[in-house]
Amino acid sequence: MDNLLSNGEFHQTVPKQFVLPPEKRVPGEISSTVSLPVIDLRGGPHCHVDDRDQLIGEVLRAGKEFGFFQVINHGVSEQLMAEMMRVTEEFFNMSKEDKAAYYTEDTSKTNRLFSSTIYGKDGPRYWRDCLRLACYPVPETINEWPDKPAKLREVLANFIVEAREVSMTLLSLICEGLGLKKGYFEGDLSSGQVLINANYYPPCPEPDLTLGLPPHSDRNLITLLLQGAVSGLQIMHQGKWVRAEPIPNAFVINFGHQLEIITNGVLKSVEHRAMTNSGAARTSVAVFIMPDMESFISPAKEMVNEENPPLYKSFIFKDFLRIYTDLSAKKVDVMEAFKING
Ligand code: OGA
Ligand code: NI
Repeated sequence: MDNLLSNGEFHQTVPKQFVLPPEKRVPGEISSTVSLPVIDLRGGPHCHVDDRDQLIGEVLRAGKEFGFFQVINHGVSEQLMAEMMRVTEEFFNMSKEDKAAYYTEDTSKTNRLFSSTIYGKDGPRYWRDCLRLACYPVPETINEWPDKPAKLREVLANFIVEAREVSMTLLSLICEGLGLKKGYFEGDLSSGQVLINANYYPPCPEPDLTLGLPPHSDRNLITLLLQGAVSGLQIMHQGKWVRAEPIPNAFVINFGHQLEIITNGVLKSVEHRAMTNSGAARTSVAVFIMPDMESFISPAKEMVNEENPPLYKSFIFKDFLRIYTDLSAKKVDVMEAFKING
């Protein structure tokens, strides 16, 4: 529990376990000219889109070029997004005693409050607290969510259903755009857990010495991120870091490893990281759509032909996760291990 950054203690300097070696601190050039594409979803799942083809074109263009984009007019109400941010902030602002009930270092537990370590106890720590919860289906998971703050369960229950719907809309546009069989992503490829990372990055006295999250790609199918007004997320694009500047009421969308594999590399799971800052706490909620544990993952046959041989091996999703955890702990590039001839 003392590990939590949001435990009420005030830091005047960055404790040494957070100080990254110089080459890992804020490496890489930051692009000042490029910004993420913003796509107007024209009402998201609830709207009949007359210009669906144009929308599909926009999603695929942004997906292929950046692997990351923001969506607006996605159908989730401003009010629900604001409430989700509010309960998340309230959660991290609760007293140490109230949070203690949810805190554990036991990585075998899905639902837990923890701080910053990514893999293994010995590596450097990152300037982030995180509440991770399995959220889907809601009736089967809600009783395991924190019962404080009072509104958390109600707000999260509404939010997760709508956020998942936006993700499913995007998957259906991608499915159609890539010429995959109708409903390709609707079965067990997307019917597994929906996890959230509710991330809290307290103000950091020396932001140049550490990171909120190290460069990583997501291991799931597709990710939707709600971020508040404080900037911090950066995306790797053509060798430079591009800022995902907060846009009111937008979600940031990115692809996980599974979508890269299924599309045979047409859509990539792109590296991203979170910076800290000394001025303001930053809160974000990442929603991870996961395949069913028993789901068979392989490059879709529509994405493979003589000119485009399969680039990735096939596997059962739970085996991917097991190998992912093992290799990440050893700092081995996970996607390389799943490449054919890799
Ligand atoms: C994550 C993530 C980014 C952010 O939780 O996987 O990339 O801006 N979060 O908090
Ligand atoms: Ni991520």
